[in-house]
Formats: sequence, structure tokens, C-alpha cells
Amino acid sequence: MMTLSKDISLSELLELPQSAAASSLSELQNLIDDERSRCMKVVGLQVNLFSEAQADDVRVRFTGKKSPLQDWLKALRNYPADERKDAGAKINQLKSFLETEIENFVVKCRLFAEEKKLADERIDLTLPRPELRLGSRHPVSLAVQQLLEPLKRLGFTVIDGPELERDFYNFEALNIPSDHPAREMQDTFFVASEWVLRTHTSSVQAHAMMERGVPLRVACAGFTYRNELDLTHVPTFRQIECLVIDKGITLAHMRSTLDAFFAEVFGRPVKLRLRSSYFPFTEPSAEIDVQCQQCFGSGCRSCKHTGWLEMGGCGLVNTRVLERCGVDPQVYSGFAFGMGVDRIAMSKFGIADLRSLFEGDVLLSRQLALR
Ligand code: DAH
Repeated sequence: MMTLSKDISLSELLELPQSAAASSLSELQNLIDDERSRCMKVVGLQVNLFSEAQADDVRVRFTGKKSPLQDWLKALRNYPADERKDAGAKINQLKSFLETEIENFVVKCRLFAEEKKLADERIDLTLPRPELRLGSRHPVSLAVQQLLEPLKRLGFTVIDGPELERDFYNFEALNIPSDHPAREMQDTFFVASEWVLRTHTSSVQAHAMMERGVPLRVACAGFTYRNELDLTHVPTFRQIECLVIDKGITLAHMRSTLDAFFAEVFGRPVKLRLRSSYFPFTEPSAEIDVQCQQCFGSGCRSCKHTGWLEMGGCGLVNTRVLERCGVDPQVYSGFAFGMGVDRIAMSKFGIADLRSLFEGDVLLSRQLALR
């Protein structure tokens, strides 16, 4: 082992004492004091003098199986009963002292060794870097983001609602009683009595009115579920929903909001068509059609030669819905609109097959995220 200074060598410090056996309590105390000061000397040395293996030697010397500490612990039972307690206390004190000091010391040596290794390492900056594989958002998540941003700018607060929903919020509150034919169109998964997977984000309308009160200007996006599966329908899809309730809200407010919203979504003003329709929770109700952005109305494959793309539904909130959600229809009125995000993502990103959105194909996501 190396020489540490002019007169002490580490091996000297680490040498085991000539005799570790104590014949009396006071002798034990002396031995303990010696051991303690030996340890202090070693751990007080500069850590750069020790390799990791040498630091480990130090640990073995002071707390290992053959260390004086362990001998003393073993010899405890030889003490006369009246001295055993005192001896035990002294030795255990030493034990915790040694363990803490040595542990700190070993950690310091290890840190120093690691730092030294890093400092010595040569980095060749001319080597090509390993390929960075960044993940990307799913196209539908991207579409959700791109739809919510303009709504936020229009003053909507983005809120959330539960996917596991009470029958009341999904149907009853929205004027769809249990015998209503609209339930047929929105066959869902009944999880337990009164609990369903929500069939639309319109359920969040009822939560918003009842929990936040009016006036309101909220938007929500999230997963919705229906019991259907074919070429153009999947059981899990995403919708986006908007609700405005205030004094004196009319169809004119709805129309101008939709115009402003779609202009932002498509990056330019687009032609909208509101086609009369029926939803139990709105009166009057309409389907929202946007002029096909591929052919601008002349008819092509993506719009099935109609010149229009159906985006979702809208209308003035039915007064029965207002009443059920504790809003006075004599004072307040409102409008709502909702639409499927998957469809919008498909037309925005030019995806032909709805199912490709759910196959977990990283290449597809990556390609779209780069656009
Ligand atoms: N919830 C309807 C559906 O899933 C869409 C909808 C229609 C939402 C009219 C609305 C609305 O907010 O006013 O088919």
C-alpha cells in the first residue's frame, strides 16, 4: 500500500491492534477510543488517495467479519452480567459511529472515482451522433389540439368530463328518456345499472350547467363509446363539444361562432351550410356541413360528389335541457355544437381508412406529426 505522508502509511493505520481482547471495562474503553481515532485518521485522509477497491478494504478493516468491532460484539457474552450492559452500550455506540463514518467515506471515494473517470474520458465530437427517435402525437390528438386552440382564442374555457357516466348525464338530462328512439342510435355499453360509457361529449353540457352555473362558454374534447363496428364506425372515437349559455343568445351567435371557428381550423374562411335536423337536446337543430376543401363544391370522391362534408350537429339548447340542469329558460338561452374528431383528422390529414387510426402504427403517427 502507498505511503501517505512522511511518517504514516495507510497499512500502519489499517493494521489490526496487537490484542483486541479486553480484560476489563476500562481497558475496553481504551481499545474503543483507539479504534475510533484510527478510523478518524483514515476517513480524514483525502479521498483521491483511495481507489474504490482500497476504500472497500477500509470498510472491511473497520466493520467486516474479522474487525475488532465484531470480535468485541462476539465477546460480549463473556462479560459478567453486571458489566454486560455497559460494555454492550459502548460497543454499539462504536458500531454506529464506525458504520456512519465508513459509509460516508466509501460514498465520497466512489463519487470521486466516478468524476475522475468522466473527466478522463475523451469525447470525440466528430463522431456522428446516435439517431434520435422522438415520439410523436397521435393524429387524432393533434387534431384535438388544433381544434381546441381556436376555441380558446374565441374565449371558451376547456373543461373535462367523465367517460364513465351516469345514465342521467348522458341521456335523461339531455331530454333522451329511456323510451326515446334516439337511444337506439346511440347504443352504448352499460357498465352497471345507471352507469354507461358516454356515447357523446354532450353529457359534459349537463355537468357544466349543474356544476358551474351560468353564464357559460365551455369546450370539451374526449373519448366517446358506442356499440358499433363496421368499415366506417369504431366503438371508441373522439368528439369535441361546445356550449354557450347567456342572456339573449340566438342562432346568429351560433352561426358567427361556427364561421369563426372553422375559418381558424382550415386556415381560411370556408363556406358553411346548416342543414335542418333533429337532436333531442337542441331546438331548432342542424347538421353542420363544410364545403369540401378538395373540390370547393364541384364534387369529388372525398365528398362523395356532394360538394359538402358533414362535420357534426348543432342547435339552440332545448329549454327542457336548461330546466333539467337548473337553468331558467325565461332568462337564459344558449347554443351547442359537437362533432367527431376522427373524421376531421381524416379530412385534415388525408387518411383514407378510419381503421388505420387505431392500429398503433408509429410510422403513420410520425409521418403526420412531421407535416
Ligand atoms: N351529441 C351529438 C352526437 O353525438 C352531436 C351533437 C349534436 C352535439 C348537436 C351537440 C349538438 O352539442 O348541439 O351525435
